Amino acid sequence: MSHSTSANLPPAARRVPIAAVRLGEEAERLVLEVMRSGMLAQGPMVDRLERAFADVVGVPHAVAVSNGTVALTAALRSLGVGPGDEVVTTAFSFNATLNAILEVGAVARFADVRPDGTIDPESAAALAGPRTAALLPVHLYGRPAAMTELTALAERHGLALVEDAAQAHGASLRGRAAGSFGVGAFSLYGTKNVTCGEGGLVTTADAGVADRLRLLRNQGMRHRYEYETVGYNWRLTDLQAAVAVPQIARIPQITAARAANARVLTAGLADVPGLVLPAEPADGTHAWHQYTVRVTAGAAVTRDGLADALTRAGVGHGVYYPRVMFDHDCYREHPRVRADAVPRARELARQVLSLPVHPGLDDADLRWIVGTVREALGA
Ligand SMILES: Cc1ncc(COP(=O)(O)O)c(C=O)c1O
Repeated sequence: MSHSTSANLPPAARRVPIAAVRLGEEAERLVLEVMRSGMLAQGPMVDRLERAFADVVGVPHAVAVSNGTVALTAALRSLGVGPGDEVVTTAFSFNATLNAILEVGAVARFADVRPDGTIDPESAAALAGPRTAALLPVHLYGRPAAMTELTALAERHGLALVEDAAQAHGASLRGRAAGSFGVGAFSLYGTKNVTCGEGGLVTTADAGVADRLRLLRNQGMRHRYEYETVGYNWRLTDLQAAVAVPQIARIPQITAARAANARVLTAGLADVPGLVLPAEPADGTHAWHQYTVRVTAGAAVTRDGLADALTRAGVGHGVYYPRVMFDHDCYREHPRVRADAVPRARELARQVLSLPVHPGLDDADLRWIVGTVREALGA
């Protein structure tokens, strides 16, 4: 017993959270700077955040807003999507994606997904009709959706393209960042790869869209008390921006650390029967917001059985998401929600389980996760 490591401790002796936030001294310094400046609301720190993030995404404009749901709503609004329009999105996402479509007054249509959980372009194409105004793919778990096919589809039908990149800071496809193909909507929520508790960023190459976003964000005012449009208060504060700014420069390191953890998990779990592992896209990079496995019929336990084993071993995990978006009573009778047939999305909702992959994991944590999963699945 002399060489026991923490990974050999009895169950639940080790606690591995599903997400962990590490900010650092630069964020503390900037927050203090804002506090001492006496200007806590939107100001120079938000400008700094916007410039830094626009550079990362490789577009001329980033507009900071209060959260990711608002980022989606603002993106749709800035593109003129509203009542009478249909928006084709994926059936399998966090419900903010759907709520934003409903918030602007549009009808939501749902495409089925590919095995990686992102929208299937063929299924999306089958839904595109005369009322379709926009396509809203989601870079689910940080894996870029099939943007080449989706961009072509949007062009073919003259559709606006909004990317739900809430989980995909730093992801890319063919050298282009998530959020640069259409109008990108990012979240800075407390568990995201880049966070300031609550926050959002909208990215665009279109100066007109950026201008409308800035107007909508600020009650429709360009100059004080002169209203050009009906607007909102969708602003972010300098206090929040100060927390996020240092993380923007670190996105490559944050993503690399997550990718390294993903590789260790994949190496440890590759041969487990019935377990389907996530992968980098062949032509791009995954942001690894989540490391999401699929527990299929060939596995020794069910998804929920594996989740229970992880709980007993103190390993944080999550089911993102247990149902397709419209499969809840509040949407079932909704006049602007169309319950399209999405058998593959429904299957994923039964199979997915996300394991910790965040940069706070150490080698012993990773061994503990791998060991727990292997043991539960009899591998
Ligand atoms: C896919 C997806 N879309 C939208 C959102 C909404 O972002 P927020 O929580 O910042 O409003 C989130 C995150 O919560 C998300 O994961």
